[in-house]
Amino acid sequence: MSLKPDPCGDYLGLRGYPPIHRDDVLGVWVVTGFNEVTAMLRHPGLSSSWPDRGNTKLHAYPGGADGNMRTSDTVRRWFMFMDGERHRILRRIVAPLFAADRIAELEPFIGRIVDELLDGVTDGHLDVMADLVIPLSSRAICRILGLPSGVAPRLHGWAQDVAALLIADYLPQVVERGTEALRQIEEAVGAAQRRPGLPGDSGIGLLMRAERAGLIERLDISATASLLVYAGFETTSTFLGKAVRAVLHAGDWPALTETDPAAAVEELLRFDTSVQQVARVARNPVEISGTRIERGDLVLLMLGAANRDSRAFVEPDSLDLARVRKRHLAFGQGAHYCLGPGLARLEARVVIDRLTSRWKHTEPASPPVARKHYGVSVLEHVEIQLAR
Ligand code: HEM
Repeated sequence: MSLKPDPCGDYLGLRGYPPIHRDDVLGVWVVTGFNEVTAMLRHPGLSSSWPDRGNTKLHAYPGGADGNMRTSDTVRRWFMFMDGERHRILRRIVAPLFAADRIAELEPFIGRIVDELLDGVTDGHLDVMADLVIPLSSRAICRILGLPSGVAPRLHGWAQDVAALLIADYLPQVVERGTEALRQIEEAVGAAQRRPGLPGDSGIGLLMRAERAGLIERLDISATASLLVYAGFETTSTFLGKAVRAVLHAGDWPALTETDPAAAVEELLRFDTSVQQVARVARNPVEISGTRIERGDLVLLMLGAANRDSRAFVEPDSLDLARVRKRHLAFGQGAHYCLGPGLARLEARVVIDRLTSRWKHTEPASPPVARKHYGVSVLEHVEIQLAR
């Protein structure tokens, strides 16, 4: 078989292949089984680092080459693409932002924004992305980082340009736009650093303290902030858009109003997640489930497919908001397990709660508009019609 460069949503087409198989056209390993993906995410022999990816023989695969290493000193500092001690140090600096008590403190703030945005819906027509979850997720990221809320409307453009930079290694205009977006993030972070009253426990505050302690360099402050924009913004807004779309598609709006929102969110994360795949490179020869992966091989871990594995879930293609087994791989596993599940879950819970308590009926108003790129499928518009 040949895997399209953008595999988002293609995992149903991967059915019928073994849970670990080789795509001979692209020369990559494709892993779709729940247990196999879990084992690989936890395997110390599989690396997340860009230098290791740059060493692969697989430059034909988008994101498999080292273009970003050459074009972006910023991306080189993202701990998402690091292993070992440096990864742990950087991750530990920002981890307190996502502690359960810090996320719980955000609930009134998130609730206020959602109410404010929904108050603007007068005729029942809502673009879930543009009118609700994009402004919501961007305001939440600004708040966490310590950026003024006036910066929030710029996050969408920045996230798009940075995401494009990560895949289109060799297109000069894309590299230019992505690099410019990273420069503008650096400028906004610099301005926030000089702002009197920047909270010491904000993301930028914590990173500044770590720099003063000699743990990181000055450039790591804006680089890590840009990682949180990239990793935390479109992943969450797209998940929320997909969640609404999935519920409407299944005709399950009434069930949503009757189910515990926290439980429904876990099923929605399993059913259709925003991060469809992550990549790893074998640092050493690795053997998993009887398959030997050679040093330097690129491995694509298909999270979306694993979440639909019939060996792990009963009727995996059904959206069952009351499903009992909730363990899924939407946020990954192991050392790089997502930092933001608490925030994503909180936003989802509040959005579902407010939508269902204000409107008892809803239907799609037009087909959703998606922007596909490597590993993450991003929704731009999900238009719905609401009625009381
Ligand atoms: C990592 C998914 C929201 C920050 C990851 C990974 C996945 C993921 C699958 C693992 C990447 C890998 O193993 O290579 C998601 C989804 C989200 C979401 C589906 C929303 C529904 C967020 C939010 C933030 C965030 C809100 C922060 C504001 C991060 C960071 C990492 C990460 C910093 C890198 C962790 C590391 O390398 O140690 N995310 N994420 N994510 N996520 Fe999320």
